[in-house]
Order: sequence, then structure tokens, then C-alpha cells
Amino acid sequence: MLPTFAMYRLFRPLLFHLEAERAHRLTLAVARLVQPWGLWALTPYFNYEHPALTVQCWHLTFPNPVGLAAGLDKNARLVRFWEALGFGFVEVGSISARPCSGNPPPRLFRLPEDRALINRMGLNNDGAEQVARRLQRMRHRRPLGINLAKTHDPSILGEAAIADFCESFRRLAPLADYVTLNISCPNTAEGKTFEDPKALDALLRAIFAVRRELKLSIPVLLKLSPPPSNRTIFDSQLEEIVAVAQTHGIAGFVAINTASDRAELRTSPAILTRIGPGGLSGRPLATRARCLLFYLYRLTEGKLPLISVGGIDSVEEAYARIRAGASLVQLYTGLIYEGPGLVRRIKQGLVEKLEQDGFDSVQAAIGIDA
Ligand SMILES: Cc1cc2nc3c(=O)[nH]c(=O)nc-3n(C[C@H](O)[C@H](O)[C@H](O)COP(=O)(O)O)c2cc1C
Repeated sequence: MLPTFAMYRLFRPLLFHLEAERAHRLTLAVARLVQPWGLWALTPYFNYEHPALTVQCWHLTFPNPVGLAAGLDKNARLVRFWEALGFGFVEVGSISARPCSGNPPPRLFRLPEDRALINRMGLNNDGAEQVARRLQRMRHRRPLGINLAKTHDPSILGEAAIADFCESFRRLAPLADYVTLNISCPNTAEGKTFEDPKALDALLRAIFAVRRELKLSIPVLLKLSPPPSNRTIFDSQLEEIVAVAQTHGIAGFVAINTASDRAELRTSPAILTRIGPGGLSGRPLATRARCLLFYLYRLTEGKLPLISVGGIDSVEEAYARIRAGASLVQLYTGLIYEGPGLVRRIKQGLVEKLEQDGFDSVQAAIGIDA
């Protein structure tokens, strides 16, 4: 059997020959063809389970700590497919109350020298109602996170923005195992409104009121922006955000979203200028994501589960995140460069590393370096 990484090495040049969003759409179209009838064929390649990988979090059982990050399956079309690739959990979205076509293309770019992407998709999604109907018809087997964002419309501000978030929460939270509030989207003019602690306070008050009204106990997480740079992790606003979040009963943090800056990249400035604005993802985020994780873990005294995302493309990086305090990790850009076999490689590698270091489970290694 040809190993999956070798197969992906064959396909990658073809995919990378295509414009990035076209390659993305083509891959998802193939996955949609496979999903209804061909999942069994994926199992021998991708299935790898081990009891040491199980993580218990928020009363949920994650068969392994490797999840799909938000943005790859914005409309929740392929949840069963991601499960068949061996992900321990899937986060769909971001989904907003109203459907949105996003920013005009081109809006997704590869930076191969940096193993990175830049995107300014602009929250393109089918909207809460349509995604909810899709999810109602679908049976998922592993924990499902639903990532919510404010509708991409600069005229929806203040109270209206809170009402917009509450509307999608009301429609989608009953269908999720956890909800992530994306307050850190860099690709819309007002995507970061709720990173202001006062605005966040008002948003969380309203969201938790809806949760009470719906009689749900679903964990609500916050997705955070990257720190300003590798060197400036500490940020007083972040401390305030965490304090406000804890006051309201936020169950954990997802860190980090894409970055707006272009610090320390190998890609030439001329290419970066041609690409223009957008969120940077992939390997250049790794140091920042890891440092912020240490910081969050200490700030929250290890009491809140943390999901680490940003630049994870190897077992070494995934294991480092767990040791730095992540209960779970997520992948996006690493998958584009390494292929879907990355999920299995990380899981197998984690089991080996845990054994080498004398841990009987992922759970035992969480935060050991923090
Ligand atoms: C094309 C693209 C679209 C994304 N869309 C979303 C989104 O809708 N909501 C969200 O919370 N994060 C989104 N993200 C951010 C990822 O979930 C993740 O936080 C970020 O890419 C860092 O992880 P990575 O380095 O593994 O890609 C997107 C990322 C990419 C590359």
C-alpha cells in the first residue's frame, strides 16, 4: 500500500499548479463525491486509534486530540469525511446569521517558501439557517464544534452585532458539542469588534442569556487573535479579555486565528505586496501560537482547556503544544502542505513520544512544560 504522504507528494504539484482557491474547491468536490459511499476505502489508510490518545474535556470524549480547524469546512458539508480521515473532532464554520459570499477573488494565496497561506476569504458561508438544516440531516460520531462569527456587514454594529451573534447561536448551538465564538477575524472591517473587553462583556452577557433560555450547558469557547509578534506575547488587553471571558463562564480558548502582519517571512516583499491584505496562517505562526499558549495556560492556572492552532505541521509541534498546555490541537495549513496523512502521522508519533517520555496518555502530558 502506497503511504498516504507519498500519494500526496504525487498529487501536490498538480494541485499547487492550480490557483489556490480553485485547488481548494476541487479537493472539497472530490471529498463530497467520496463521502456518501467511499469512506470505508479511506479507513485502512487513515484509521489509527490508541487508548493513550483519548482526551476527556468538557464532559466530551475526544478519541484523539487532533482536530480540523475552522475555515476548511465552513458550511459543514464534509463532517463524516473528516472523521474518516481520523480527526478526533471537527470544527465547522465560521458561520454567520446571514449567508455571505465573502470578499471578491482572488482571496487565497500560497507562500510555499514559508509553508504558509494568506487568505482574505471574508467569512463566505451559507448562513446559520442553511447550515443548521444540513447538520440536522447529518449524524456525526465525534465531537463537533461550531464556530460562529458576526455577519460580514459593516452596517451591523453595536446592539445589532450582538443580536446577530445571538441569532446564529440560537439556531446552531443545539446542534453542536461546543461552540466557538470567532471574535478575531482579520478579514472583515469589523471582525475584531468584540476583542474590545467592554464589547466582549456585552456580547457574552447576551450569549449566556440565550444559552440559559435554551437550557443548554454547551461549552462556549473564544477564538483569539495572534499576539502582535513573536516578541510581544504579553498584552494587557488580552489579560482583560481573559478576565471578562472567565467572569461569564467561557469554557476555553482557541488560539490562534490568522495574523495580519508579515513579520519574519522568507517570501519576497514584492510578492507580499502583490498579494495584498489578508490573514497569514501556517508555519510562521508556530512560535507565536506556542508562546501564547504558555501564557494562557499560566493565566488560567491550567483550569480551562485550551485548543492550540497555528503552524502545526508535525508530531513534534503537536506534542510541544500539548506539553505547553493544549488539551487539543487543530490543523489547517499543515494539511495543505503535508496532506491528509498528517493526521495519522501525528497520532502515531504522539503515542511513541508519550511512551518515550513515560506518560500513559495525552491527558497526562498536558501542560507539563508550562
Ligand atoms: C483559508 C482559511 C480560511 C479560514 N477561515 C476561518 C474561519 O472562517 N473562522 C475561523 O475561526 N478561522 C478561520 N481560519 C483560521 C484557521 O482556523 C486557523 O486558526 C489558522 O489558519 C491557523 O492555523 P494553521 O496555521 O494550522 O492554518 C481560516 C484559515 C484559512 C487558511
